[in-house]
Amino acid sequence: MSGAIGNAPTRVDGRAKVTGEARYAGDFRRPRQVHAVVVGATVGRGRIAGIDAAAVQRLPGVIAVVTHLNAPKLAYRTHKGAIDPAFGERLHVLQDDQVRFFGEPVAIVVADTLDQAEHAALALSVRYQASPPRLSMSGAASVVPEAGKRPGRSQADRSRGDAGKALGNSDVQVDETYEIARENHTPIELHATLAEWNGDRLTLWSKSQFVVNEQAELAAVFGIPPENVEVVCPFIGGAFGTSLRTWPHVTLAAIAARHVQRPVMLALSRRQSFFTTGHRPRTIQRVALGASRAGKLTSLVHEGTGETSRYEQFVEALTANSSFMYACPNVATRYRLAELDISTPTYMRGPGEASGVFALECAMDELAHALQLDPVELRRRNEPEHDESENRPFSSRSLLQCYDVGAERFGWSRRNRIPRSMRDGRLLIGWGMATSTYPVLFNQANARVRMQVDGTVDVEAAASDMGPGTYTSMTQVAADALGLPMDRIRFRLGRSDFPATPPHGGSQTMASVGSAVRAACLALKTQLLQQAVAASRGPFAGVDPITLAWKDARLVRTDKDVSQGYADIVMGAGGKPVEATGSAGRDPETANRYSMHAFGAVFAEVAIDPAVRTIRVRRLVGAYGAGRIVNPRLAQSQCTGGMVGGIGMALMEATALDTRDGRPVNAHMADYLVPVNLDIGQLEAHFVPEEDPHVNPLGVKGLGEIALVGVAPAIANAVFHATGIRVRSLPIRIDHLLDGAPS
Ligand code: MOS
Repeated sequence: MSGAIGNAPTRVDGRAKVTGEARYAGDFRRPRQVHAVVVGATVGRGRIAGIDAAAVQRLPGVIAVVTHLNAPKLAYRTHKGAIDPAFGERLHVLQDDQVRFFGEPVAIVVADTLDQAEHAALALSVRYQASPPRLSMSGAASVVPEAGKRPGRSQADRSRGDAGKALGNSDVQVDETYEIARENHTPIELHATLAEWNGDRLTLWSKSQFVVNEQAELAAVFGIPPENVEVVCPFIGGAFGTSLRTWPHVTLAAIAARHVQRPVMLALSRRQSFFTTGHRPRTIQRVALGASRAGKLTSLVHEGTGETSRYEQFVEALTANSSFMYACPNVATRYRLAELDISTPTYMRGPGEASGVFALECAMDELAHALQLDPVELRRRNEPEHDESENRPFSSRSLLQCYDVGAERFGWSRRNRIPRSMRDGRLLIGWGMATSTYPVLFNQANARVRMQVDGTVDVEAAASDMGPGTYTSMTQVAADALGLPMDRIRFRLGRSDFPATPPHGGSQTMASVGSAVRAACLALKTQLLQQAVAASRGPFAGVDPITLAWKDARLVRTDKDVSQGYADIVMGAGGKPVEATGSAGRDPETANRYSMHAFGAVFAEVAIDPAVRTIRVRRLVGAYGAGRIVNPRLAQSQCTGGMVGGIGMALMEATALDTRDGRPVNAHMADYLVPVNLDIGQLEAHFVPEEDPHVNPLGVKGLGEIALVGVAPAIANAVFHATGIRVRSLPIRIDHLLDGAPS
């Protein structure tokens, strides 16, 4: 074995990225390519009363203006990919005169240059009959999500024991409401699609975390066979969930390209990326905890409502984690949706968990304070033996070790439990902590491996790499399975005609695609062995396969001192490249036997200036039980990114909608605040050793989401510890700390 797994090589695509050789969707160019710009509705609800396209049509460079009046009626066949809401119907673009939310596309302008298209798009006059949109969650009916009516992670109602009664009978109670603002993903790379038709064949160079789904979606929208659509996306400049679904701009690019019979590039502006490409839904949650004086939970109630659009039900696992996180005999969870005149929300890093765990972990901190107990100690006292909601064992759960390692690295034992008791000069210091968790997903994935005659290897899977280092980690997996150095492997991804893989989201790429790559490599070795035996000559011709074995990258006879490397075997077997495919996916029996989750503990230090109430996160220490770590360097990098996202969620990120028309008023990077380098202190991630033979063949649990979950509550709890002020809404800002006057 080359032992690539567990080592920390640098990114195999690092050079291509820093030299600009790596091409992102917006970088692709085709002959005769022109530019399209989307025009979004400027009312929050209503209908289009008129569009004056003729005036704009005469502007320099303008080739076409496409609106609902001249757009083709598209097939919009039913298609629900793994990432699309199960209930409701996706937005049909330019198919009618209705406006469902602010920013809904009402026209596309196509011109020779981007400047001309932008100018014309601004000049296009659209008249509306507007009506007031419903935007307030408190004013909306509480809807039981259709998907939540059956068992699963987004189950609407779930209970064991009698949580209400136990709450009333408990020694100590906490019962509070928590609110989280809408957040937008704001990756550096903006959404872009280059569409080109050749007859009824469509090629898309498009930013996507799920190219095979984008292929299926566009085929369904245009009513053409999926094999007529090809989606290409070799690189992604961050996405965090916003490129999982195929949003309207992809269809618009294809409509425009067909209309003008030329390749069309459509890139959304930063502002437009706040309109129709998903967002973390606003949530309102209630958590009530009851406990004995000894700090044992007796009751846990978690009720949460998330916003969704009027045309689709976006559901996430908002309350799911509360049913297994701690030992508690009486638990009731309830999940509802508020249908508003907004575009459909979507998955955003740690979807559901990040929001739900915030409420639960803040409530746990409030309970610890009420019990005058250390917050880590409270959690230890409620560590469950098994998953009490499913009544089955955890495949592995190293949470107690995470508390140990995290507390030790952080220096938690030096904490004074009393709020406002710790200072550094005039600064108020707060130390807070929270638990983190994310499920282990593992879905059907496929991969193809080709051994070339020179002994180098091509590995292909549809897959994506939005930043975690898929290129590198898959190269490690293939190198290990084949016993080759990493530089003999070329891993390719991001094409819909490569073997299909699940969405590059839900922290499942390492588990799913990694296991498929491994399976393909093992299948290739079997095939090479069979070919060596079947060859008419050569050292293995006609030999009983039982006497053959692989030793590193060589096939050896165990009864004789004879061996051959890959290149020789391929030459002996006819001199043509040898190909094999492999697939992997969860075995339902194992999946039903165990509860599979990653767990972690996050510790935060904040410093608050009592004069101006600025909040600075000085340190974050996370300790994670995430199974096998394939590449510690990349794992550390993932966790750093997740922590930065968590700081944004805790202290900065909020998309503000104008209450009159639903316009996102801060749809730009000046006012949609995200952390910058100056906001980031010391970030540390530690991985506790964890071997889990049940989760998947690689024993990995995934690291994308868990690194963000738990960060915001750890910070909120630290803010309370520093100030004595409990802020129950995110983001926490200076104005939250103005009452109560810390000094
Ligand atoms: Mo992540 S929200 O699963 O792309």
